[in-house]
Amino acid sequence: FLSQIGPDALMRMILRKPPGQRTVDDLEIVYEELLHIKALSHLSTTVKRELAGVLIFESHAKAGTVLFNQGEEGTSWYIILKGSVNVVIYGKGVVCTLHEGDDFGKLALVNDAPRAASIVLREDNCHFLRVDKEDFNRILRDVEANTVRLKEHDQDVLVLEKTPSSSRNSTHGTTPAHYKYTVMSGTPEKILEHFLETMRLDSHFTESDPALDDFASQGSEQEKLDFALGSKRRVIRLVLQWALLYGDHLQEEEATLAFLEEFYVSVSDDSRLIPTLKEQLPELEKIVKQNTEDAKSSQKKHKVLLRQFSMGDERLQKRQSIKSNDEILFKVYCVDHTYTTIRVPVAASVKEVLNAVADKLVSAEDLLLVNVNSAGDKMVLKPSDISVFSTLSINGRLFACPRDQFDALTPLPEQEGPSTGTISSFELMSSKDLAYQMTVYDWELFNCVHEHELIYHTFGKQNFKKTTANLDLFLRRFNELQLWVVTEVCLCAQLSKRVQLLKKFIKIAAHCKENKNLNSFFAIIMGMSNPAVSRLNQTWEKLPSKFKKFYGEFESLMDPSRNHRAYRLTVAKLDPPIIPFMPLLIKDMTFTHEGNKTFVDGLVNFEKMRMIANTVRIVRYCRSQPFNAEASLASKNHQDVRSYVRQLNVIDNQRTLSQLSHRLEPRRT
Ligand code: CMP
Repeated sequence: FLSQIGPDALMRMILRKPPGQRTVDDLEIVYEELLHIKALSHLSTTVKRELAGVLIFESHAKAGTVLFNQGEEGTSWYIILKGSVNVVIYGKGVVCTLHEGDDFGKLALVNDAPRAASIVLREDNCHFLRVDKEDFNRILRDVEANTVRLKEHDQDVLVLEKTPSSSRNSTHGTTPAHYKYTVMSGTPEKILEHFLETMRLDSHFTESDPALDDFASQGSEQEKLDFALGSKRRVIRLVLQWALLYGDHLQEEEATLAFLEEFYVSVSDDSRLIPTLKEQLPELEKIVKQNTEDAKSSQKKHKVLLRQFSMGDERLQKRQSIKSNDEILFKVYCVDHTYTTIRVPVAASVKEVLNAVADKLVSAEDLLLVNVNSAGDKMVLKPSDISVFSTLSINGRLFACPRDQFDALTPLPEQEGPSTGTISSFELMSSKDLAYQMTVYDWELFNCVHEHELIYHTFGKQNFKKTTANLDLFLRRFNELQLWVVTEVCLCAQLSKRVQLLKKFIKIAAHCKENKNLNSFFAIIMGMSNPAVSRLNQTWEKLPSKFKKFYGEFESLMDPSRNHRAYRLTVAKLDPPIIPFMPLLIKDMTFTHEGNKTFVDGLVNFEKMRMIANTVRIVRYCRSQPFNAEASLASKNHQDVRSYVRQLNVIDNQRTLSQLSHRLEPRRT
């Protein structure tokens, strides 16, 4: 019998039978055949045997036959036994061709997403094996190949990998989704396309839409229209989300504003023909109007930030987020310690800063811009560096000089910092008030940080030509607080006062922790563990044991072992609002960035982007609840406390601090 009709024909005959009617022998024959199919080679024997029972043979006679259309619900997975098909995408045409042994159509099944492409027969008389959705879900969903590579014109454009889907998704829908294909890498366009396809609109949009029910016929023209409508809505939704994320930073780029305006016009034109699009129009209109109006008014008057960001009265004013286009008045010093005040955009490059300086100097050839710290260390800034004002060390200053004067540059006397401590003023303030006002200030700084600054900071702001000033200032505050602790201790000559100081700092740290201000909490504890403080044995010996115990507990939270496990566990238990230990988040992002390539084989490494996004999400979570400044907590002298914590003077030269420390308690011999 076999020799008469040949193995292929026999197999076809069996596979045309409904699965229930296949005999044990039938299944054995099919199983044997499955062993030769490339698309199944990675599957186990058990899975292949199960498949033998459910695979269906399907053939089509004519080239041009459409197996399914892009945007439709996925009902089956296919393997090509004979012939070839074209993968067709709206607006792109044929993106690739699949041949004998290739498979297609599992994306829609695994992700519960619409078909990402249409499949059209490329030649007459093609043969397929088909597995229907239910069987696929039962047998294959969880064992299917881990990686899917989508090609367009022989180039990989999207690489997906199966990962456990979040529990949030698996409670949705009827079939629990254990795995999902997530994007590992891809071209930016294809990644975007994939997102638009798999994005879920609100249920009242996707479920029976009354406007669509009016059309009785579900002809292919109608299907195309439905598909187009769905796509348009997704695009609008995505643009809205994107605009929301950018917030008023949208105004910084003319191209972005122009795009939004044009987009709005197109959508409102479309909504005249397609009434359902009207629903999203008001929201879009609001965002577009607001941004164009704000942009117009801010073109006339950019904010001018007074003096250096770090010094002076502006710290007492309510903070506003610093934007790249804001202008800053900044002192740049010369070798003789005179200075010029320049006015440039915050995001100005070193070259632009030098041009502004040169305009004001008599002889201005070949200038260098140099960052001089209080210890006299000099760093020449690269002409391409941008937005350098906020990156100086606490008492650092910018100097401009001709190349031949570089060696003669010395720090200003004021960079040394204070010579007397301020304990006499802040010992009168309660630790609780101090911690509270610090937290209020930290919240102002933290709230000004835009999520994108984390990205710019990690990937290098000069690549984006955007400032990270708000983030820089927040990170600076951490250093400043830390140095404040060291400075105060080292400037406190009297032993008993020093003990009082340590007690005070421990109390302030405890209150910061209570306020969920982990940034200041760590800054204080790290200040106390600075060698210049921790070596003061006589002082520590006199500290009451209760305080020693607190300090010990706090210090253990700083333990960096097992990737800061102690800290991470503590934060995980807190509800927002939280001020996180920012340097650690920055370190996490930098590690992710440095440990992973941004591109793999020319495709964007999207897995890396997701990892970075997870850290950004932590920041988002911390700020997801507002910090309410409780008026009741503000005590009588809160103005004094407030201005005290905002105008700390510190010594930032570790050698000076260390010398002071040795003078207080010389090493015992
Ligand atoms: P699915 O979305 O279920 O249906 C269309 C199928 O075409 C898709 O799964 C993939 O298996 C296959 N395909 C092959 N190449 C591409 C491509 N470049 N873009 C989208 N789909 C593709």
